[in-house]
This record gives sequence, structure tokens and C-alpha cells, in this order.
Amino acid sequence: MVKILVLGSGAREHAIITALLSEDSDHDITCAPGNAGIANDVPCVAISATDAGAAVNLAVGLDVDLVVIGPEAPLVAGVGDAVREAGIPVFGPDQDAAALEGSKTFAKRIMNAAGVPTGRAIRATTLLDAETALDDFGAPYVVKADGLAAGKGVIVTSGRDAAVDHASYWLAHGDVLVEEFLDGEEVSLFVLSDGHDVLPLSPAQDFKRLGNNDEGPNTGGMGAYSPLPWLDAQFGSEHAFVSECLENIALPVVRQLESEGTPFIGLLYCGLIVTKAGIRVIEFNARFGDPETQVVLPRLVTPLSELLYAAATGDLAGRERPEFSPDATITVVLASEKYPDTPITGRPLGGLEKANALEGVHLAHAATEVGPEGVLLATGGRVLSVVATGTDFAHARTRAYAALGEIWLEGGQFRTDIAAKVDTSGQVIADPWAGRS
Ligand code: AMP
Ligand code: GLY
Repeated sequence: MVKILVLGSGAREHAIITALLSEDSDHDITCAPGNAGIANDVPCVAISATDAGAAVNLAVGLDVDLVVIGPEAPLVAGVGDAVREAGIPVFGPDQDAAALEGSKTFAKRIMNAAGVPTGRAIRATTLLDAETALDDFGAPYVVKADGLAAGKGVIVTSGRDAAVDHASYWLAHGDVLVEEFLDGEEVSLFVLSDGHDVLPLSPAQDFKRLGNNDEGPNTGGMGAYSPLPWLDAQFGSEHAFVSECLENIALPVVRQLESEGTPFIGLLYCGLIVTKAGIRVIEFNARFGDPETQVVLPRLVTPLSELLYAAATGDLAGRERPEFSPDATITVVLASEKYPDTPITGRPLGGLEKANALEGVHLAHAATEVGPEGVLLATGGRVLSVVATGTDFAHARTRAYAALGEIWLEGGQFRTDIAAKVDTSGQVIADPWAGRS
């Protein structure tokens, strides 16, 4: 039994807590601030996750063995530094190392220094610079805000005008990066780091666009699946793919950060594109991905608490790679109407118990709150993740969408093609909400 404080309030944090409780239901876990779904499982304390003082007071008061920081905002705000200074092991990097996610310019510098393969990028501080860079690279155009933008700072478009408009919008907030377009399948690989040594988790694929067939705006992520069967064909095995990523990407970055006096202790999220020319990094994040965590952790056989504690205390050396079940696992995100631009929030959310009761299905809550009349409300953009496992992806998909069919949120949005390309049955999932009003 360990005592853990998890900071955050999303489906990722719910997935982390679900994994910890499934390993040992006696673990003493607290979440801050949490959400209505997390509060069904563990005590939640209403502090802001970015309030370093409050997090330290809570962690000290609870006398926890470990603090796990879920989202990027507290990491970039230095909550990890403050808790570590108070003498408590933290899974999550200090502010300086979290800049790997918080500043794309910093990430590019580290990648260059470490010799990590990535797309070429030009930083622009004026619209004229940005336009010159766009014309240098040509279409399709990739423009990224330099700082944190909750997944909304990136545009990939064949339209020059849309690229210029995006650059112009984000230049009002800081610098932008214009990047070479990388063509290929995306992979999210999570790597645990203790500052010196690393251990990989099993890869997942995320669906970033709002709509089916990868149409519509970029979002925080609308679904995911794991494992990735097509890696076997391209690399011989998942193991071989992961080895290549560790050797060429994760370890060089972790060692570079260590050599600069900013050791990275936590989860190095490698956002990759498998191009014809090889594996390329499109971004690093300094925390577990959302919604990929919802499909990776249910497959983890090795106890998660041991891995997180070992990373937080500099003790990963010599450990075996974590073990994963081969279960096909998918997650479908339910988002509010008008997400990602101006989500409509505060609407009642129904049918969750029925969905949760289906075999092989569970829900991870993201933005839920019990309203004044005891009614469950959707309170944010991404509301919840439906997670389903099966013997194969056809099975997992059938289960996930059957569960969605039990749920109701006025104006709710979700994709019906999550993991369709690895569903060898070729089934087409009809919108389980069709005909409702
Ligand atoms: P990021 O926020 O950097 O992860 O970018 C969001 C999404 O934009 C990624 O998941 C990719 O789908 C896409 N993207 C980012 N950079 C590139 C690139 N250089 N080439 C192609 N697609 C990209
Ligand atoms: N799913 C992408 C992310 O967590 O950034």
C-alpha cells in the first residue's frame, strides 16, 4: 500500500487512478482537484493544481509517499520543484525540464544538441518572417505557437491564407514556429525517466482532429488505441520499434537534459511520425498524454505505482521493461458542443451507469461535476473517455460504441472511426446517437 497524491482533473488522471486502484485497491490515493468521476473512486480536495503552495501543504499534510502531476500547466508553473523541495518524491519534471513541452524553441534546441531526428523548423517573430518561411517550405503548411496552447496552437493546412492567419493570430501571443510537413503514421510513445535511465511503455496512436477521417480542427485528442499492430510489419516487432526510439530519441534527450543540469524526472511523451525516411519527433510533452493514457494503462501488467515511484526516486536502472497485455484497447472521447473553440458547458450528462456496466467497458471522466440538484453536468470541452478492451479491435470498437449508445449529452460530439484502420473486420460503425434530438 502506498500513499499517493495525484494532481489534475482530467480523464488522464482518472485513468492513472484507475490503474493504481486496479493494482491494489488498498492504495491510499487522493486527487486534487479531481472531478465527479474521480470523486466516486478516491477523496478529492478542491485546490487549483497550479497552486504550488496549496499542493505542498496538501502533500505534507497527507504525508504522501509520492506526488504524481498529471497536466502540463502545474509542471510549467513549477509545482514539481516546490513539492520536491519539500522533500517528497514527485513524478513530473521541474519547471526547467518541463520547458521541453512548454517551449517548442527549447525543445528544438535540445533535439539539435542531442542529435534527435525532427522536422526542420524556422522561428518567426514577425508575420513577414513567417510568410517567408511558409514559402520556403511550401505546402502543406505547418505553423505552431511557441508556448502552451492546449493542443490548439498547431495548424496543418494546404491553404496558405489559413497558415498566414494562424501565424498572425499566435504572433499576438508570442513567437511561432513554421515547420517542415512530415508525412506518415503518428505514434505516441510514453517513456518513464528518472533523470538518467528510462523505461518505455507500450505505444499508442492518438486521433487529434475533431472529425472522422481526420477532418476539422486539431483538438486535445478525440480518441486513441493501443497496441499498434502495424508496427510489427514495419519494424519486425513493437519491441524493435521501441528500442530504436529509446536509442535515438528518448535516451539522448534525457542525457542532454541531465548534462545541462535540468534532469527530466517523469514522463517523456515522444510524439512521433513514422516517415518513409525514418522516425521523426514532432513534439515532446512532459506528462502522460490524454487520451493515450486511457488505452496504455489498462494494458499495463507491471504495477504502475512501483514504476512511478522508481522514476521519482532515481531507481530505474537495471529494471526490466514493463509488461503489457495484448488486449486491443480503444478510447473514444465525448466532447461538448462547439468544442474545441467555444464549448457549451453545464449541460446534463446521462446514461453513464449503464455504459460503465457493459462488459469490457469503463469510463474515465474529464469534465464532470455534480450540479446543485444532484444532476451530473458536463463542465468542459472534453467531457469523458469511453474505454473498451476486446480480443481484437473489432470487438473493442463494438463495445466502445455500444457504451456510447447508452450515454447522452445534448450537442455532444465524438468520432465514429476511432481505430477503424486496425479493425480488420472492416465494420462501419453507425452513429449510435443517430435519430436522437
Ligand atoms: P503538436 O501540438 O505539435 O503535437 O501538433 C498537433 C498535430 O499536428 C500533430 O499530432 C500532428 O498531427 C500535426 N503535426 C504537427 N507537426 C507536424 C509536422 N511537422 N508535420 C505533419 N503534421 C504535424
Ligand atoms: N493526446 C495528445 C496530448 O496529450 O498532448
